[in-house]
Amino acid sequence: MSTGKKIIVTGGAGFIGSHTVVELCKAGFHPVIVDDFSNSEPFIVERLNELCGTTLPFYECDCTDKNAFRKIFEKERPSGIIHFAACKAVGESVAQPLKYYHNNIGSLVVVLELMKDFGVNDLVFSSSCTVYGQPEQVPVSESSPSKQAMSPYGYTKVVCEQIIEDVIASGQALRCVLLRYFNPIGAHPSGRIGELPRGVPNNLIPYITQTAAGQRSSLTIHGNDYSTVDGTCIRDYIHVVDLADAHVKALEWIHSETDEPLREVFNVGTGKGETVLEVVNTFKKISGIDVPYTVGPRRSGDVEQIWASTEKVEQLLGWKARLSLADALRDAWNWQKQLKA
Ligand code: WQD
Repeated sequence: MSTGKKIIVTGGAGFIGSHTVVELCKAGFHPVIVDDFSNSEPFIVERLNELCGTTLPFYECDCTDKNAFRKIFEKERPSGIIHFAACKAVGESVAQPLKYYHNNIGSLVVVLELMKDFGVNDLVFSSSCTVYGQPEQVPVSESSPSKQAMSPYGYTKVVCEQIIEDVIASGQALRCVLLRYFNPIGAHPSGRIGELPRGVPNNLIPYITQTAAGQRSSLTIHGNDYSTVDGTCIRDYIHVVDLADAHVKALEWIHSETDEPLREVFNVGTGKGETVLEVVNTFKKISGIDVPYTVGPRRSGDVEQIWASTEKVEQLLGWKARLSLADALRDAWNWQKQLKA
């Protein structure tokens, strides 16, 4: 079904994009990588060639540059797009909102314009559970209300979801799946690709692995006075390889549906919440390392607890997370260790 289908993967050298390239190849798609290396490294493309056993088409291109991106469409004539390319640091988005509005919204607009010009209809878009804000009820389902965005980054995801809806309402024959990711973690089990945070990591898992590797002296847990079992925040941590597979399932599902315009939203999480302390303790079990930590104040903008209802994605896409938190932490640690070597 997927044989020969050429899929442009924007942000294909990034954390989720690179793992998705591998899963696309495994499923018989032909990924075309587009990345400007603004938050990724060229060696990842080499590693992808190695993991996929072929030289993948690659273009260094900023997706907001319509003229440059148009040439890629002309040359490759894709049948679909997975649009990952975006800035994703919540704190940075507060300091530099225009960078986020320009890149995240601008690149989607360019993608949609080029899709229209070239008659390309199939799109998988990276959204985020951030659109739910602090939910009134957990788990959250796709019909849970979107909340006031907690940051410019979060607002770009809300706006992009709306843009896609408006474009379909205007008559463009889009067939689009929006995937609302929960907390993507882990790395490829081969240890060849993984997350490459620049500077001091904002996210929990890279902070833990860098502390375990001796690059940071101690983890700060952002608050332990929440109304949860141990006082620390709860998140739904999803292994990046499972998440990558959800994109393949989304593309296959789009093809199995009618030719009618389509816009469907799916949560992509495990359906299970873990506290920060549970993550630290699971890391100790898989690595034998007792990561030193102190408890600091709450981090502004953090929601207390959120995890996904996965009923819809299981039923329609036939996708379910297969890997555990322990698997993800083992793979993240394996990746971190080879980075240091
Ligand atoms: C997880 C938990 C922290 C670091 C962010 C984005 C979201 C998303 C995924 C993006 C929280 C705690 C963290 C530390 C800590 N999507 N923590 N000490 O904030 O849930 O989600 O990344 O692309 O949109 O907001 O993830 O990993 O930063 O935090 O205690 O040094 O770990 O308070 O409870 P978050 P995170």
